[in-house]
Amino acid sequence: MKRKKILITGVSSGFGLLSCVRLVEMGHEVLGTLRGGLTRARSIPELQPALATGRLTLFDVELVQPESFRPAMAFIASQWGGSLDVLINNAGFGILGPIERLSEEDLRNQMEVNFFGTVLFTQLTLPALRKTKGRILNVSSIAGLLSFPFYGIYSASKFALEGISEALLYELHPQGIQVGLIEPGGFHTSFTSSVRQAAHLGSEDAVYGDEKRAMDAVMKRRHQFTLPDPSRVVDLLVKLCHQRRIPFRTVIGRDAALLCFLRKMLPTNVLVRVLGWAMRRLTRAEKARSQSNKIGAPS
Ligand SMILES: NC(=O)c1ccc[n+]([C@@H]2O[C@H](COP(=O)([O-])OP(=O)(O)OC[C@H]3O[C@@H](n4cnc5c(N)ncnc54)[C@H](OP(=O)(O)O)[C@@H]3O)[C@@H](O)[C@H]2O)c1
Repeated sequence: MKRKKILITGVSSGFGLLSCVRLVEMGHEVLGTLRGGLTRARSIPELQPALATGRLTLFDVELVQPESFRPAMAFIASQWGGSLDVLINNAGFGILGPIERLSEEDLRNQMEVNFFGTVLFTQLTLPALRKTKGRILNVSSIAGLLSFPFYGIYSASKFALEGISEALLYELHPQGIQVGLIEPGGFHTSFTSSVRQAAHLGSEDAVYGDEKRAMDAVMKRRHQFTLPDPSRVVDLLVKLCHQRRIPFRTVIGRDAALLCFLRKMLPTNVLVRVLGWAMRRLTRAEKARSQSNKIGAPS
C-alpha cells in the first residue's frame, strides 16, 4: 500500500482522533490539527503511540483564526515537498436553539467555524492537492441535507459546506482532485457534550421554554442512549482515503438513512406535522418525567 500524506482537522476527539490514530497505524504520514497543539496532545493518551511512530505531526489550528493555519501549510511546503494526498475537513461543532433566540455572535460563530474557517483552510491546501491529484473529504452531517427544530444555524453551516463542496467538485474535477461529503447521523463522540445552546434561550422562555427543558433533559440523559460507535464513520473515512473513485455524498448511520428516506417520501406539509408531533411527544414525556421525579423526591 502506498504511504499517503493526510491532513485531518480536529484530532483532539471523536471522528478526527480515531481516524488520525487509525491512519498512522496503517503507515500513513498524518498532519493533525488541534486547538492547543502538541502541549494539549500530551494529555490525550490515544495520541501517544501515534506520536511515537514519528509519522504524526500536530499543529495548533483554531478555525476562527486563519493566521493559525500558516505553520501547518509551511510544514506541507517544506517537509512534504508541497504535496498532499488527502484533506479531511473534520473539525466542527454545533450551536442549537430556535432561530429567534440565537444571538448575532451565535450565528456568526457557527458559520465562522463550520463554514468560513473550513473553506479558508481548504483554499490553502489546493496547490498541494493538485500536485498529487488528491482528494478532499468534508465531514458534513445529515443536518446538512435536512434540518430540524433548533438545528437551524448548525444546519445552515453544513448546508453552506454542502453547497461549496458541490461547486468544488465541478471546479476541481478537471484538475483531477476529487471531493466527497460524509453525512453522519448521530454517533457517540464528544459532539453532544460540546453542543452550545442559543445565547438568548432561558428555561423559562415564554415561547420555547417547554422545548428547551425537554432538550436539556434529553442532553442530561444522553449517556442512557446508545448512540452508534464512531468507528463506523472512521471505517468509512479510511475507505474513502484509499478507494480509487469516491462518491460525492455518503450518508452513514441508520437514523440518517431513515431521515433521508422520510425527506424523500413525505411532502413537506406532512413532515412538518410529523416533526411537530415528535416534539410535542418529547416535551410531554419530559414534563411527566420531571413531575413524577418531584412527587417521588423526599420533601
Ligand atoms: N458525532 C455526531 O453525531 C456527528 C453527526 C454529524 C456530523 N458530525 C460532524 O463530525 C465532525 C466531527 O465531530 P465529532 O462528532 O467527532 O465531535 P467532537 O468529538 O466534538 O470533535 C470535534 C472536533 O472539532 C474541533 N473543533 C471544534 N471547534 C473548533 C475550532 N473553532 N477550531 C478548531 N477545531 C475545532 C474540536 O476541537 P476541541 O476539542 O478543541 O473543541 C474537536 O477536535 C464535526 O464537523 C461534526 O459537525 C458529528
